Amino acid sequence: MSKLWGGRFTGETDSFTDHFHSSISFDRRMYKEDITGSIAHSAMLGAQGIISESDAELIGRTLKEILEDIENGKIEFDEKAEDIHMNIETILIERIGDVGKRLHTGRSRNDQVALDIRMYIKKEITAIQSLITELCKSLNNTAKENTDTIMPGYTHLQRAQPITFAHHVLAYVEMFKRDYERLSDTYKRTNIMPLGSGALAATTYPLDREMVAKALGFDSITLNSLDGVSDRDFCIELLNALSILMMHLSRFCEEIILWSSHEFKFIELDDAYSTGSSIMPQKKNPDMAELIRGKTGRVYGYLIGLLTTMKGLPLAYNKDMQEDKEGVFAAIDTVKMCLPVFTNMVKTIKVRKNNMYEAAKGGFTNATDAADWLVKQGVPFRDAHAIIGKLVLYCINNDTNLDDLSIEEYKKISPVFDESVYDAIKVEKCVEARNVPGGPSKEYIEKLILINEKYFASL
Ligand code: ARG
Repeated sequence: MSKLWGGRFTGETDSFTDHFHSSISFDRRMYKEDITGSIAHSAMLGAQGIISESDAELIGRTLKEILEDIENGKIEFDEKAEDIHMNIETILIERIGDVGKRLHTGRSRNDQVALDIRMYIKKEITAIQSLITELCKSLNNTAKENTDTIMPGYTHLQRAQPITFAHHVLAYVEMFKRDYERLSDTYKRTNIMPLGSGALAATTYPLDREMVAKALGFDSITLNSLDGVSDRDFCIELLNALSILMMHLSRFCEEIILWSSHEFKFIELDDAYSTGSSIMPQKKNPDMAELIRGKTGRVYGYLIGLLTTMKGLPLAYNKDMQEDKEGVFAAIDTVKMCLPVFTNMVKTIKVRKNNMYEAAKGGFTNATDAADWLVKQGVPFRDAHAIIGKLVLYCINNDTNLDDLSIEEYKKISPVFDESVYDAIKVEKCVEARNVPGGPSKEYIEKLILINEKYFASL
């Protein structure tokens, strides 16, 4: 097979070299973007009189047929044609001869590949965002069912203060809302049309770049041809947004793994989202959560990989940049697999409310509220802190807790105490008393659930 760029060559490429530098095995997934971009390009060439209208029409029509044939599995790509761009151009030329050869007027694969990957990423951002919305809606519903589910909140993985399961779950909703917005932001900078940058120095043809941008749904055009072909910031931004998203999923998975352990017993995973052991009959393992946590590592790897690939590249295009795609694609695939698994795993979790409640009652999660009670009686906070600290130590030494101390035991440490302290340190009260924006009280959490519902409806 002769190469589209074969003119200045006399020898053949080594067959292993063909295999080595070919990208068709992975960039084939951009066939639709490549064809759609070419249709817009040829229509613009026709409209500008750079090629004839009838040639543009024939090119456009044939490209559509090629698209259909690809989708019906009728086309086999050829490694020797290197990449998706040259595979499609070759097929076009095979079908309509000389007319097909006019398509690449005023264009280089360098701006073509930049266009294709931008179009591909735009499509995938939208798909990932709808998966995030699904997840958030589902978490918001889980929160709705758990506004009264008291659990211990932790710092340093030590029981700290009582919160509710709804409050905890909604913390993740905030993270996923930011992930959504980060992707919207990435989309903005991806939505800029690079065609017309040529190989690096634009072209001598009177291209109508705005027309192409409009036809392909881009906001605007790139403003410097060198940057147009060598910018991969949007790929890095995408990988960054996906890495942070995976980090959030991974943190939640870590908690799911802990909570489903015998030590915590806060939740039970549905059989559909756990696995057994081949040797230990009693095991029910949180494999899906572990896998999502594990896959986070590779998504970070793709980000670091591309940053490293780009860091030493002189302007403008270098073939190193072909290495952008596999990581971007793999990160997208990974996230698109993890999100629905995660959504369904959480949706089907059995919340062991009683165990959460019992854990909240232990571990002195009401100690801050006991100190706050003293403050309300006029004791300075630092003194109150010290008094409750002593009481906690007393409880630890006597294997009891603040709720079960007698009023005499309280009074021995400070005469300020009276019976009303017992009510103030009930975990339910501790939660309800935090009735401020951002807090765990049922009243505020119900407001937040509504805020979220409105937010999701506006997306
Ligand atoms: N397959 C190449 C890539 O993914 C397309 C651009 C190639 N351009 C070139 N001049 N070799 O980056």
